Amino acid sequence: MERTPLVAGNWKMFKTRAEAADYCSALLPLVDELDEVDIAICPPYTALDIVAERIGDAGIGVWGQNVHDAPEGAFTGEISCAMLIDAGATGVLLGHSERRALFGETDEALARKLAAALAGGLEPVLCIGESEAERDGGETERRLSTQLDGAMTALSGSQVLQVTIAYEPVWAIGTGRSATPEIAQETHAFIRGAIASRHGEECAAAIRILYGGSVKPDNAAALLGQPDVDGALVGGASLDPQGFAAIARAAG
Ligand code: 13P
Repeated sequence: MERTPLVAGNWKMFKTRAEAADYCSALLPLVDELDEVDIAICPPYTALDIVAERIGDAGIGVWGQNVHDAPEGAFTGEISCAMLIDAGATGVLLGHSERRALFGETDEALARKLAAALAGGLEPVLCIGESEAERDGGETERRLSTQLDGAMTALSGSQVLQVTIAYEPVWAIGTGRSATPEIAQETHAFIRGAIASRHGEECAAAIRILYGGSVKPDNAAALLGQPDVDGALVGGASLDPQGFAAIARAAG
């Protein structure tokens, strides 16, 4: 099964609208010819419309960084699927480790968010990953299984096919210490196997599993060259259009 590589830039809480506009102008010519790689940007909510206007037509995905599962309501500070779509989003990150660790996001909440994103027409990207203590303690597979089961058990096969998984080991995020290509491959193969045992071989062969955690232009090719690594979710290095484009080229 051929899986088109996907490289996404998670800007986190960086960039004003003006900075986002400049970024889009710089990025477009750098990725213009990259037909064999899917690209997405996850700007802060305030810049979603600018990014969608500037690069949405070029086929670049525009993803929110979080969503609430309710269609609307008294949830101060939250945002719905319909609001993200209204602002130009085509997808959404779910369960980023910063949301889990700093904002108390649980697997139960993520199951609701995943269902809401699928029902609402947003491409969901479920982030999973173990902490350093869990890896050192031999708990990685148990942790990843819990996160997959917590969020995805209720999904049908056709729904699973619409999900992208992002494996982001917490110890590699923002630390400059990426997983080795071997660790990334071994863990991605485990995740694909877990999807196969729960949702069937067909789903497992089709689903894209991105690696995230200190992906840079100089380590991207080795990570993205692994057979079960279908792309990258890039934080810090995605803030610079040149660096992000270099990573996208490494996926092609
Ligand atoms: P860094 O690339 O800065 O390590 O961040 C990874 C990440 O959290 C992407 O979602």
